[in-house]
Amino acid sequence: MQDKINDLEAKIAAAKLGGGEKRIEAQHAKNKLTARERIHFLMDEGTFEEIGVMVTHRSTNFGLEKNKPLGDGVVTGYGEINGRLTYVFAQDFTVMGGSLAEAHAEKIVKVMDMAMKNGAPLLGLNDSGGARIQEGVVSLGGYADIFYRNTLASGVIPQLSAIMGPCAGGAVYSPALTDFISMVENTSYMFVTGPNVVKTVTHEEVTSEELGGASTHSTKSGVTHFTYANEIECINGLKKLLSYIPQNCEESAPSLPYTSGDEKREKLNGVIPQNPNQPYDIREAISGTVDGDSFHEVHKDYAENIVVGFARLAGKSIGIVANQPAFLAGVLDNNSSKKGARFVRFCDAFNIPLLVFEDVPGFLPGTDQEWNAIITNGAKLLYAFSEATVPRITVITRKAYGGAYDVMNSKHIGADMNFAWPSAEIAVMGAKGAAEIIFKKEIKEAADSEAKLKEKEAEYAEMFANPYNAAARGYVDEVIRPDQTREKLIKAFKMLENKVDVLPKKKHGNIPM
Ligand code: HXC
Repeated sequence: MQDKINDLEAKIAAAKLGGGEKRIEAQHAKNKLTARERIHFLMDEGTFEEIGVMVTHRSTNFGLEKNKPLGDGVVTGYGEINGRLTYVFAQDFTVMGGSLAEAHAEKIVKVMDMAMKNGAPLLGLNDSGGARIQEGVVSLGGYADIFYRNTLASGVIPQLSAIMGPCAGGAVYSPALTDFISMVENTSYMFVTGPNVVKTVTHEEVTSEELGGASTHSTKSGVTHFTYANEIECINGLKKLLSYIPQNCEESAPSLPYTSGDEKREKLNGVIPQNPNQPYDIREAISGTVDGDSFHEVHKDYAENIVVGFARLAGKSIGIVANQPAFLAGVLDNNSSKKGARFVRFCDAFNIPLLVFEDVPGFLPGTDQEWNAIITNGAKLLYAFSEATVPRITVITRKAYGGAYDVMNSKHIGADMNFAWPSAEIAVMGAKGAAEIIFKKEIKEAADSEAKLKEKEAEYAEMFANPYNAAARGYVDEVIRPDQTREKLIKAFKMLENKVDVLPKKKHGNIPM
């Protein structure tokens, strides 16, 4: 028996070396960890159990039968992260560039199926040159098997992707189907086709970094939600993100112990500037309201006119969507509408209550916006809020103008509670624009047109630039002092804890894509 045990141990040791010491060194030289090192730092110590270490590919093409590394370039299994069951796959770039073929895909599919059946998150650590070229159509089939499961698992279990190396072709579409993508600066890339193909087809000269690096995808395309300076920070980011999220769509997110106190937040009384057109950072309102430094921003560098992220209120996980007056005056445009809508849908799918801070002058006008479908994109946000059945509360801090008032989680589209600060201005449009339209004739005929405009502007502002008309109709439930915000929200979310809201029976809705 001992000789058999020795043989087994030799095999496992060989598998752990992946593509061999030289390739591991090369991986380290690029500031990259190996697949097993990544899992080591991700999972609670001693909890990881590997599945399928003896799996090899079955290809005989291009001499591949002479090179059958154990595990076939991907480490798969399960373990615990902060004591919670999590499934993981980590592609091993030292084995044929982490490329995906039949056996490699089967291993990933196996843990995906287990994650679904057992209702636990799936984490993918991607580092792959895409479909293994030598295996042809079975590589493509393997990817499609994964894409299919990514889609079926969407909204059932959380799926998080980390991009930890160059990912091309199929290696980017699986992450794109998951809930959140994280990238590592300077060592990870995502593109459907790399710079060489781009040059051949479009004659554009572009580097990997420009085409699909972390900063490109965090600022320009919005493909990635998080970027990190190195892999350890990225792994810690994944753990932090998981801490706000439940195991599956039937559970609630874990909450932290909480004892009340420190509820009156006087600092909030100073957030809104005296001049209603002066910008301020909405993050001050967010951090002034939530528990400690619990705000975890998502998509931080993309569409900065809307801020989204997770936080804790009285120990419980909430999702925050907030207009950002410090960037483009907090206006809603194509990108911010898409960013907000996607986040709202994630929170709703996973029972995370939504809190909205509203200060929005309206939708951004112009040909660029119209030609890029602000109608369709704005409708995405409207649709996402309208169909969300989780507890939903809005705090109007200042401007709530036009269609944006409706869209930003108004009571009319199903918000449960709507609070406003005394600084709120709830109207069809700003006072100047409104006065110019409705008093056009009077202003034109006045001896001093400018003075008349000012007078009418003041008249309109007096009538509408406040929260009291909306409160009189019950569109705003209560006008509150900013320092009361935290206490009011804690009570209201507790009141809504057992909310049941059922959408009309249907196969699925048809969100304007
Ligand atoms: C087989 C691959 C491979 C692949 C890399 N390798 N990609 N083997 N199939 N797709 C191998 C290399 O041959 C090399 O093996 C080792 O992995 C490391 O690759 P290098 O090129 O030396 O590394 P690097 O310079 O870091 O470049 C990494 C890379 C590049 C940018 C990922 O390898 C690359 O461009 N690969 C091809 C990307 C691609 O076009 N994939 C197919 C996409 S189509 P040796 O033995 O020499 O060390 C696709 C279809 C699915 O995925 C679409 C679904 C929608």
